[in-house]
Amino acid sequence: MKKEKNILCIGAGYVGGPTMAVIASKCPEYKVTVADIDEKKIKAWNSDRLPIYEPGLSDLVKGVRGKNLFFTTDIAKGIRESGIIFVSVNTPTKTFGEGAGKAADLQYWEKTARAIIEYAEDSKIVVEKSTLPLRAAEAMHRILHSNTKGLHFEVISNPEFMAEGSAIEDMQEPDRVLVGGMRTANGKKAMDRIVSIYSHWVPKERIITTNVWSSELSKLVANAMLAQRISSINSISALCEKTDANVGEVAKAVGMDSRIGPKFLRASVGFGGSCFKKDILNLVYLCEYYNLPEVAAYWEGVVKINDFQEKRFVKNIVRNMFDSVAGKKIAVFGFAFKADTGDTRESPAIYVSKMLLEEKAELSIYDPEALDNAEKDLAGAKGRFELVRDPYKCAKDAHAVLILTEWNEFKKLDFRKIYESMEKPAFIFDGRNILDHKGLYKIGFNVFPIGSSKMSHFK
Ligand SMILES: NC(=O)c1ccc[n+]([C@@H]2O[C@H](COP(=O)([O-])OP(=O)(O)OC[C@H]3O[C@@H](n4cnc5c(N)ncnc54)[C@H](O)[C@@H]3O)[C@@H](O)[C@H]2O)c1
Repeated sequence: MKKEKNILCIGAGYVGGPTMAVIASKCPEYKVTVADIDEKKIKAWNSDRLPIYEPGLSDLVKGVRGKNLFFTTDIAKGIRESGIIFVSVNTPTKTFGEGAGKAADLQYWEKTARAIIEYAEDSKIVVEKSTLPLRAAEAMHRILHSNTKGLHFEVISNPEFMAEGSAIEDMQEPDRVLVGGMRTANGKKAMDRIVSIYSHWVPKERIITTNVWSSELSKLVANAMLAQRISSINSISALCEKTDANVGEVAKAVGMDSRIGPKFLRASVGFGGSCFKKDILNLVYLCEYYNLPEVAAYWEGVVKINDFQEKRFVKNIVRNMFDSVAGKKIAVFGFAFKADTGDTRESPAIYVSKMLLEEKAELSIYDPEALDNAEKDLAGAKGRFELVRDPYKCAKDAHAVLILTEWNEFKKLDFRKIYESMEKPAFIFDGRNILDHKGLYKIGFNVFPIGSSKMSHFK
């Protein structure tokens, strides 16, 4: 097989694994290799128990693994044998030095660039799949061209827009694919090659090509705008709770305006996930760096409202449970940052749980996919918590149930049975507004939705 039909992806995480599985399944003439430094993860990708949960992922991987999709820790061999290298390593928020708490930590990404120079024996196309700050491709270009072997590397920006929980569907039918490159002859050729991969299944009109900087910035802005909608409706949910308006009704009325649209207008305990907060803070840092303090403050507000919403949720629990949760069992339903994923990165459940543990509540946590991650997230947290694999056991003898993830299965639970097994008065705090609140109230629960009046049996 010619090298130009060999694709390597460095980084076998939530993006690298699923994107490459989709490319391998749609482009049988390509050999796709996914490489990672994490041996345990690669072992899991090669087993029946994949390291991440995504609907449809397991079947997809089984269909192509060992045929034209391979997982390996041999990054050097992958680099030598591939003409196209996607880089999909993590780019978390920097926790130290200049830009700490806001800027992207590019150490993993830079290491991959250096590995490419070290092992490459010929010229290659390097594709940024990780979400990177503006002008990162330029930096990558400089590092790659510091090689003394006379090799040429064309750097392309191809940000990933999929959402966890629907990653496979999103990648198989994307709203758009964005390919950014340098406007030089080599740059155009490289962009054409990346476009030709996606053209196997994505209609031409949905593949956009831009300059590399527009591509990088578009990814940050898309995430910032999605998060902004959530923070906008969450800010209104606080007002609704004070005024007897109902945030669901407001969101419906507002979202039916075709200029606004209904998506991302569901009030909740707050957004989570590895990307939203990190990408907004990255945008804020860029604006500060370019001396645009007003723009920076505007976007920082989105993160501040999210923090406010999480805090408000906890305060509401403590206040309504007679100003003390000490020694009370509280059942947490859902720990993943959203439904249909086991990912808990930046999940509001982490903050809520830690705050309640500080208040000396005893937590019992149930999630269909995220308990292993929950255990890691709460390792070292002060206080008592247990992870339970059955929602009914989780709620038994609890004073309150909290809904922190919008798993569909929560809607189908027998809440009468749950109510009967709980301490009284029994409380439900629905942080995702997914339950039938009137029905729960009738059963006997004191119900606390987000963004509408509480339903309490106390006079
Ligand atoms: N998770 C999402 O929903 C999502 C969506 C769009 C974009 N992104 C972006 O994609 C990038 C990757 O995100 P993710 O969620 O897949 O992260 P992840 O943490 O799940 O995966 C990153 C992987 O890279 C590996 N890695 C780090 N340094 C390496 C190196 N030098 N060589 C080889 N492997 C290395 C890590 O071991 C890890 O397995 C980030 O920039 C993120 O912002 C994520």
